[in-house]
Amino acid sequence: MVIRSLELQNFRNYASLAMEFDEGINILFGDNAQGKTNILEALYLTSTTKSHRASKDREMIRIGQEEAHIRLFLSQNDVDHRMDLHLKQSKAKGAAIDGVPVRRSGDLVGFLKVVFFSPEDLSIIKNGPGERRRFLDMELCQLDKVYLNQLANYNRALNQRNNLLKQIGQDPSLKETLELWEEQLISYGTQIMRGRASFLQELAPIVSEIHAQLSGGKEELKLLYEPNVSADRYREELFYSRDRDIYLKTTHVGPHRDDMVFEINGSDARRFGSQGQQRTAALSLKMAEIEIVRRRTGQKPILLLDDVLSELDRSRQTYLLSGISGTQVIMTCTGLEEFVENRVRVNRVFEVIEGQVMPRSEEETLVKGE
Ligand SMILES: Nc1ncnc2c1ncn2[C@@H]1O[C@H](COP(=O)(O)OP(=O)(O)O)[C@@H](O)[C@H]1O
Ligand SMILES: [Mg+2]
Repeated sequence: MVIRSLELQNFRNYASLAMEFDEGINILFGDNAQGKTNILEALYLTSTTKSHRASKDREMIRIGQEEAHIRLFLSQNDVDHRMDLHLKQSKAKGAAIDGVPVRRSGDLVGFLKVVFFSPEDLSIIKNGPGERRRFLDMELCQLDKVYLNQLANYNRALNQRNNLLKQIGQDPSLKETLELWEEQLISYGTQIMRGRASFLQELAPIVSEIHAQLSGGKEELKLLYEPNVSADRYREELFYSRDRDIYLKTTHVGPHRDDMVFEINGSDARRFGSQGQQRTAALSLKMAEIEIVRRRTGQKPILLLDDVLSELDRSRQTYLLSGISGTQVIMTCTGLEEFVENRVRVNRVFEVIEGQVMPRSEEETLVKGE
């Protein structure tokens, strides 16, 4: 899958933009706060219907404007497609693929396949379980429509049960209706757990292999699923947790509290890993993500790298850049030194200045390797 071109209207700091990408490595460089990340955000949004920075739709519309438009031309197995997305101040967003309106966001998610990598992702091992679940869910939702539905249904039932828990204090007779939502939680929750377990089983050996290479064979990384509750004890534990749940007005048991374990040489890297180990494991996880999308869909995802290169040391930079050859890459950075030093073959360079994107010629940048 390759993104051919992008058009923006009143998106973030872009009044109007039209740009064409190369199918290899594209670089957006420029000073801070010029609009580099905004371009990656537009692409991520078109892929997932959400901003990677969790911004609200309204915040992405250019200040003072009513609507924002994103249009993208892409080709997949030599067939061209057009994707349109619009954001409105007071209405829900809308989208179309090849001019046909997309009714449910689930029909849009995953049409365009991307892997987004930002410096914050390097902290995924160190940070709280919420971010690791988010990684799991974002990835699974892109790959699996059934999972996406199950997750939406689970979250709806969870919200209903939590609302009910808050009302029971005033009206204890409502306790009887808990069971209705609990049946749904168990049914969807069990399917979510199954989806996560099989995804991680497939991902784990890929992550381990990449981590072994990155650490020069010195470290063995094991990735394991850590469910909050086992499927066969789910019903029981949810039931036993009822009084506590009513007292604390929230649901304590279920896959919304799951985690993943990263074990390096037998010890839990979340707690005991050095910063270097944690970052290497995070990089391995991201690179494994590219591979699993390729395996599951038969298509190479587009890699969006937001300022990550400067966060990595030379050997990890080299590993990342050599591991992604043959993939379309769109990356941002403030300078071009890394490419010169790494002798990376760069296909297209753009300079971003205050919401304007200027293609730079090869001679000007002199960053191409031999
Ligand atoms: N809704 C918006 N309307 C207009 N400008 C915006 C909006 N949201 C963000 N910006 C501007 O976008 C710029 C930040 O863009 P960003 O892509 O994050 O920069 P960088 O080049 O550092 O990656 C800032 O100048 C910010 O003021
Ligand atoms: Mg940025």
